[in-house]
Amino acid sequence: MEKYAIMGGQPLRGEVEIGGAKNAALAILAAAVMTDEPVVIENVPDVRDTNVLLKAMENIGVMIDRSERHTVKMNSSQICDCIIDDEYMKKIRASYYMIGALLGKYKKAEVPLPGGCNIGIRAIDQHIKGFKALGAEVRIAHGSIIAEAKELRGSHIFMDKVSVGATINIMMAATMATGKTIIENVAKEPHVVDLANFLNSMGANIKGAGTDVIRIKGVEKLHRTEYAIIPDQIEAGTFMMAAAASRGDVTVKNVIPKHLECITAKLLEIGCRVEEYDDAVRVIADKAISSTQIKTLPYPGFPTDMQPQMTVALGLAHGTSIVTESIFDNRFKYVDELMRMGASIKVEGNTAIITGVEKYTGARITAPDLRAGAALVLAALVAEGETVIEDIKYIERGYEDFEKKLQGLGARIEKIDSDRDLKKFRFRIAQ
Ligand code: EPZ
Repeated sequence: MEKYAIMGGQPLRGEVEIGGAKNAALAILAAAVMTDEPVVIENVPDVRDTNVLLKAMENIGVMIDRSERHTVKMNSSQICDCIIDDEYMKKIRASYYMIGALLGKYKKAEVPLPGGCNIGIRAIDQHIKGFKALGAEVRIAHGSIIAEAKELRGSHIFMDKVSVGATINIMMAATMATGKTIIENVAKEPHVVDLANFLNSMGANIKGAGTDVIRIKGVEKLHRTEYAIIPDQIEAGTFMMAAAASRGDVTVKNVIPKHLECITAKLLEIGCRVEEYDDAVRVIADKAISSTQIKTLPYPGFPTDMQPQMTVALGLAHGTSIVTESIFDNRFKYVDELMRMGASIKVEGNTAIITGVEKYTGARITAPDLRAGAALVLAALVAEGETVIEDIKYIERGYEDFEKKLQGLGARIEKIDSDRDLKKFRFRIAQ
């Protein structure tokens, strides 16, 4: 199994290009099956999650051409089945976006119950509530969700909980329903807006994405489109946090600064300098960072997907910080690993009380999930000595060329597959 070998202590300096947003790509790739005409999607990140979803779509007859690494050309006119295979779909939670897309277009879908990172209970009751409100019969059998409808009719749906996935799934199912749908208390993440823009580029009639209420007028048919996915605000935020934790100076390029506002605000609060440009943000951390309080919230609040990375930085801050995780109920699993590197953190329920320490020290650790894995890489980059991180497959679900991008910023990190590789890594950095 591949691992990362990291020798800490180098402040990160330089520029890094941010890729397409994984969570926008997963929704948009799924939604692309809703037309029989050709679709071209650019800026698709080459990460495990998107690659698994594309394999599953090919498996039901979607024709996919990925001759260029970040461009996907699709034609869904020959789809032969609305049953998504277990083999692919237990691996990624976003599998369930195929329900909204297939139900919306074919009025039927069968998809295995979602898999994905273990960061807490991943309910789907709000998705089911929306599908039923539109007139679908939904049942769970043999580990799959089965949804079908003679006809989908517009409805007024009030979400009991703000849910990114449910907002996306219901929006897709309602796009081709008969009549008007109003969805209240929706998620406002940039990738929800990106999906609405993508669907509208295919002829949908969706208004209000990015606000609390989305209004949809159902259409009969969707047509061809060419579309480019927005930059990944969590990948960008991860590199910004790496600059803060390593006392470095990093410019993240090809970003939408507005999507990073909450992360920027917190970096300013802990003493970093931040310069914003049209499509880039520079983070300069030329002095010790100070403590603060964080509570994760739906967008535009502080993103839960940045919680582990922020905790790593605050673990080295002067003073005591408090991080409250309000979205998921088990997203502090990585703290045990971080404490093996010298962090001083007490987790009580969904709150972490962080007492800043002078330094982290390298250790052999394991990535528990995607964002926690990335956060542990940040900790290793600033730790004294060598760290080996196992289970990096989690990190590769959402970060393209992560170690190469970090090397470009001066980090001493390599992907290794054996102790022999580790010895070669040690030899190389000792030169
Ligand atoms: C999406 O997950 C993202 N995944 C997650 O990113 C992200 O952390 C999350 O949104 C919050 O921003 C993708 O986009 C593929 P939710 P999702 O539905 O849609 C509860 C990453 O790192 N809930 O907004 O599953 C749920 O249990 C991943 O890229 C219900 O109770 O998140 C959770 O506590 C990790 N019933 C909360 O809502 C439902 O029907 C938010 O979940 C649905 C959700």
